[in-house]
Amino acid sequence: MALARAFASVASLTRQGESKLGFAGKAFASTTTVNGVPVEVHNEGGSKRVVVTKTLPGERWLQFLINAGCRVEVSKHPDVILSNATIKQLMGTKCDGVIGQLTEDWGSELFEALKQAGGKAYSNYAVGYNNVKVDEATKRGIPVGNTPGVLTETTAELAAALTLAAARRVPEADVFMRSGKYKGWLPSLFVGQLLQNKTVGIIGAGRIGAAYARMMVEGHKMNLVYFDPYPNKQLEDYIRLYGELLRHRGEPPVAVKRVETVEEVLKEADVVSLHCNLDASTRHLINSQRLALMKPTAVLVNAARGPCIDEAALVAHLKANPEFRCGLDVFEDEPAMKPGLADCPNAVIVPHIASASLWTRSGMATLAAANVAGILSGYPVWNKQDILGFVDKPLAAAPHAAPSIVNAKELKLKMVAE
Ligand code: DGY
Repeated sequence: MALARAFASVASLTRQGESKLGFAGKAFASTTTVNGVPVEVHNEGGSKRVVVTKTLPGERWLQFLINAGCRVEVSKHPDVILSNATIKQLMGTKCDGVIGQLTEDWGSELFEALKQAGGKAYSNYAVGYNNVKVDEATKRGIPVGNTPGVLTETTAELAAALTLAAARRVPEADVFMRSGKYKGWLPSLFVGQLLQNKTVGIIGAGRIGAAYARMMVEGHKMNLVYFDPYPNKQLEDYIRLYGELLRHRGEPPVAVKRVETVEEVLKEADVVSLHCNLDASTRHLINSQRLALMKPTAVLVNAARGPCIDEAALVAHLKANPEFRCGLDVFEDEPAMKPGLADCPNAVIVPHIASASLWTRSGMATLAAANVAGILSGYPVWNKQDILGFVDKPLAAAPHAAPSIVNAKELKLKMVAE
């Protein structure tokens, strides 16, 4: 009753559509509007109200929230990127938790609104959280979740796809073919770069960087040079063992080297892929001076965050060096591109799809929902590398924990024992 009153005061709840069968016959979705914003409602009778700012893939995520007694309202607002004003309308004056997007600006304004609405949990639907001012959430006692552990291979695969597409000029050749220009085989048609036995460089040897490195080293027998403030011993051991195997088979072995500076990677590698977080130290990490250090035939790949590259400098470099190529999944002023980039045939550009495999995107939804559900249920925080128990095990066997809370320590949240 109290909850119904709270909703009535927050929102003009207008039933707009008929219910449709929800999940495992347990819940029904209906549509309504909240302060003028269309939403899809699941588990209408739930006692905690969770707002989800975009439709998420899969069904498992919803079960986490429903099992935690949540009424879930998924925004159906037509804007691709929701403004703060719209998100505040969605939260209203009674909102226990939110699952938001990496395109949204989660800072003092939204966290204050969430706090005022009684909010106790926020999860980004992303592993990266440079769109979240975590200290603003911490100040207000709000745990912030993210979704690590399910993006690794999927993101690395896309970085590898960009590398191959750029090195072998696949999009250029595709456009040529579609425009009916192909008149017959020629020795000089779309000649690109062979990767086999060359050197791949990575900047950032965390989970995704290491997975990409393994794909390139194993797949193309490339040597690895990497920069990371911390050595990745597991990756180094793996490559050394692979080198031994090749030697044993009478093939040239591969080598791995960690270097002290970004510059050393840029000078030495034939392919450089960025796998660092975005912060003050990595903004414009790749600028015109550093681009000038790279080989004129090198490939630069970015599936991390757009502002890690000075994109205007990259456009100038691509224009001046037609044999230099890049593969970009992310952009400095996303969704916009810097002037001239789209006209560079030596740039392969895709719209931030590195994590876009169904398994990963559904897994991200599950982790984000489990973060919010876990906090609202008073569970401890998991924060361990292996999160597959949340994603792949039968739901009943999923850990009773919030999988990944980035400010758990600052908020002194209880952790699951090792
Ligand atoms: C993330 O999760 O940070 C990715 O950029 C989404 O693709």
